[in-house]
This record gives sequence, C-alpha cells and structure tokens, in this order.
Amino acid sequence: MSPTAQPRDRRGLWMLVPLLLLFAAWPGAAEAQQAPAHGGPVRAVLPLGEEALASAGFDESVIRWDLRTGHAAMVARWHDGAVNALAPLPGGGFASAGEDGRIGLWPAAPAEAPERVLAGHAARIVALAAGPGGRLGSASWDGTARVWAADGAVRVLEGHLGNVNAIVFRADGIPVTAGFDGTVRAWPEEGAPILLGEFGLPQNALAALPDGSIAAGAVDGALRLIAPDGTIREIAERGRAIAALAASPDGRTLAAASLGGSVALYALPEGRLRATLEGPGLPVWSVAFSADGAVLWTGGADRRVRRWDAATGRPLGPLGVEMPDLAAAFPGADPHGVQVWQACAACHSLTPDHGNMAGPHLHRLFGRRMGSVPGYRYSERLARGDIVWTPETVADLFTRGPDVVTPGTRMPVQRVDNPADLAALIRFLEQATR
Ligand code: HEC
Repeated sequence: MSPTAQPRDRRGLWMLVPLLLLFAAWPGAAEAQQAPAHGGPVRAVLPLGEEALASAGFDESVIRWDLRTGHAAMVARWHDGAVNALAPLPGGGFASAGEDGRIGLWPAAPAEAPERVLAGHAARIVALAAGPGGRLGSASWDGTARVWAADGAVRVLEGHLGNVNAIVFRADGIPVTAGFDGTVRAWPEEGAPILLGEFGLPQNALAALPDGSIAAGAVDGALRLIAPDGTIREIAERGRAIAALAASPDGRTLAAASLGGSVALYALPEGRLRATLEGPGLPVWSVAFSADGAVLWTGGADRRVRRWDAATGRPLGPLGVEMPDLAAAFPGADPHGVQVWQACAACHSLTPDHGNMAGPHLHRLFGRRMGSVPGYRYSERLARGDIVWTPETVADLFTRGPDVVTPGTRMPVQRVDNPADLAALIRFLEQATR
C-alpha cells in the first residue's frame, strides 16, 4: 500500500476532469483508488448469480461479496491454510477447497461454516469442478482426483504420476484431469482411462468447451485445444506459465491467465487472440465468466478481484468500495489514512448506523474491549479475548497480523507492513471512530 496523491483542492472541480480521465484510462491509478479484496493473493473467484461473488485466497479466507454495494457480506476463516479453489453447487451454494485437503460445502445464504465437509484427500486440493447431477470433482497433490456424487459416493481417479493440477467435466459429463506428469486424461465411468494428450511439461489448467473440446494450459505457456475426436491444436504463442483457464458460457471465448500477469482472450473456434487484459503485471491466479458471459472476473497476486468487459477487454474496475465515496464521507480526514483504510472498508463501517458488515463496526474503537459490539457474532477468540483496543494494540494487530495476535480470529490474514501507512491508518481511525 503506497500513498497516492489525492486531489485536495475543491476550488476548481474542472481540475479533476483530467485526473478522472487519467484514472479511467490507466488501470494502475484506478486500482490505487480501490481496496484490495484480500489480505493475500486471490486464488479463486466464483460469480454467484448477478448480485454475489465468492473469492478465496492465500489469506485463508473465503469471502462472499455483495456486488450491489461492493461490501463483503461474509468472511469465513474455516480452512486451515490457503484456499485454492471454488466451484458452484446446485441450488446456489458453492464448494471451497485448499491446503488442508478438505472440501467445504457452503449453503446459498451467507454462513460462517460449511453445511457439509468432504474429507479424503491426503494433500492440498488445487482445483474443483462442478459436474452434471450435482457431482463435484477435486484435483489434489496427493496424486489423485476424486469425483464426489451428491449422495456421498466417491470415485477415486488414480493414475497420474505426481500432482494432479486440474479437473473439469467434459460436455459429455466425463471427468478430465491434467497433471504435473504432462498428461491430460479422461475417466469414463466404465473401462480404462483415456490418455487425451501427453505433452512432456506440467499441465496447470483445463477448461471444458460446450462442443466437447478441452483446453489445456501448460507451465511453458502452451495452450492446446483437444477436439472430441482427439485432434490436438496449439493456439497461442508460448510465454509465461498459464495458471488458469475459463471458457465463456457460449464457448466463443477462452480466457487464459498467466503468471506473467496478463490475461489473453481467444476467439473460438479459430483460436485467434482477440484481446489482452493488462493488469498490474502480477500473477493472475483465477478467471471466471459471469453467467451471461458479459463480464470476466480475475483474481491474483495484487490481492484484488478485478472486473473486465469480456467483449472488449476493457477494465471495469476492481471490486470494492469506491475511494472518492470514502474521502467525501470523511472531509478533513488524513488523506493518506483514508487511502490505507480502503483495505478495511469492504468489511467495516465506522458508525453504528451503518451497522455491522462482514466485520463489526469500529465506532468508538479505542478504549473498547475486543469482541464487545452488541449484536455482532464474533469468533470464539475475539468474544472471549481481553485485549482493549488502543492505538498501540491496533497497530500491533496489523504489524504482526491478526492470525498471530488473535489466532482463531475470522479476520483474513493481513498486515500493514509499511510503518508510515500504519501510522496514517491509526491517525485516520482516531479521527473517524470517535
Ligand atoms: C475481509 C474482511 C475484513 C477486512 C478487509 C478487515 N477486517 Fe477487521 N475484522 C473482520 C472480521 C470478520 C472481524 C471479526 C473477527 C472475529 O470475530 O474473529 C474483524 C475484527 C476487527 C477488529 C476487532 C474489532 C472488535 O470489535 O474487537 C478490528 C480492530 C479490526 N477488525 C480492524 C480492521 C482494520 C483496521 C482493517 C484494515 C487494515 C480490517 N479490520 C480489515 C473482517 C475484516
């Protein structure tokens, strides 16, 4: 988090016009105007209808966003370790999985813990896929993939040599996996698995297209289309490792996210590069289309959930609370502090009338015992904790991190590393929570 010059002068509004145009045209600046969504890299994004989105990341949290307000509606710290994958469930819920090898099945309404847990993998899960009939696929570094039926039956897919990195369900319902061993395999219900491709280098990501094709992305940037008849076609210039793939619902666009930081949109079936989305140059870990295919969501090492026009590749801005709204709400507040506060605004309000969001409101924070806002459902750790919040204890919370100071808290793993940022945040809280 670094300070960015804020327009402080209200005398001539016209002076803002070139600035606004600059923000609109230059994602780097626009992004400085927006809160990071997570305390660490965003590893998975999943649109849930038109008004909600789930995201998950290295900060060990699963966050459910209200897209109408840009606020977090729910933060869950249920997984033990990074959360790597999300997939939709029938009925509006979703599944999450991560380092701890567990899969949580979350209900459609915001909840603090999953309704059901699927256990069985012996190592981290790195990918999930939704299949027909409510089936769920998982790919793990224990060398297996699993298909979990809605009735609880589980099928273990064994054969890859080493980590399984990706799983999808082909249009015909058959699960397809890809792994560190460079192979892509299909697993029909009956008979032996089918080797769809053997490419030498590790395969990181898969996407299933409506026509029955499979797209596979590799560590050397190779992007291949495997047609239903088995023909293989390489469509992209090789470059940086591909980390994630997504196909638009109509199958006309394939999005490929790279660890180099860009996202390429290919027009299918030709495989022509249609647009390249340029973010801040940090690895992009996840891509997902909205149900109507109009919006592409991405998540990555910049800790943000970004939104793009899927037709043109134009940035539509990251998810989160608009910075100008914040500045207007606190006239006279330390602008640097307002800037740092953006990282908190998605989950906390500063006045009791705005109420509790995913986190408790922070009105009259200093002097208050932790876990003491009436009506907010704290974690055990905060509810029975005895820290009194002062400028010093809050500074400590974000120097060492909530996971260290209050282990067991639901607040995502995050720190404010720069001492000047931290001092500005505390100054802002002193002004704004009074
Ligand atoms: C993604 C959501 C999220 C973000 C971002 C977030 N918090 Fe929190 N915060 C929470 C949750 C949830 C809790 C309650 C934790 C619990 O019950 O364990 C909390 C608790 C707190 C508490 C303790 C409040 C009390 O009543 O005891 C403080 C202080 C706090 N947050 C400050 C911050 C600040 C400052 C930032 C920004 C640097 C921030 N939070 C960013 C979700 C968030």
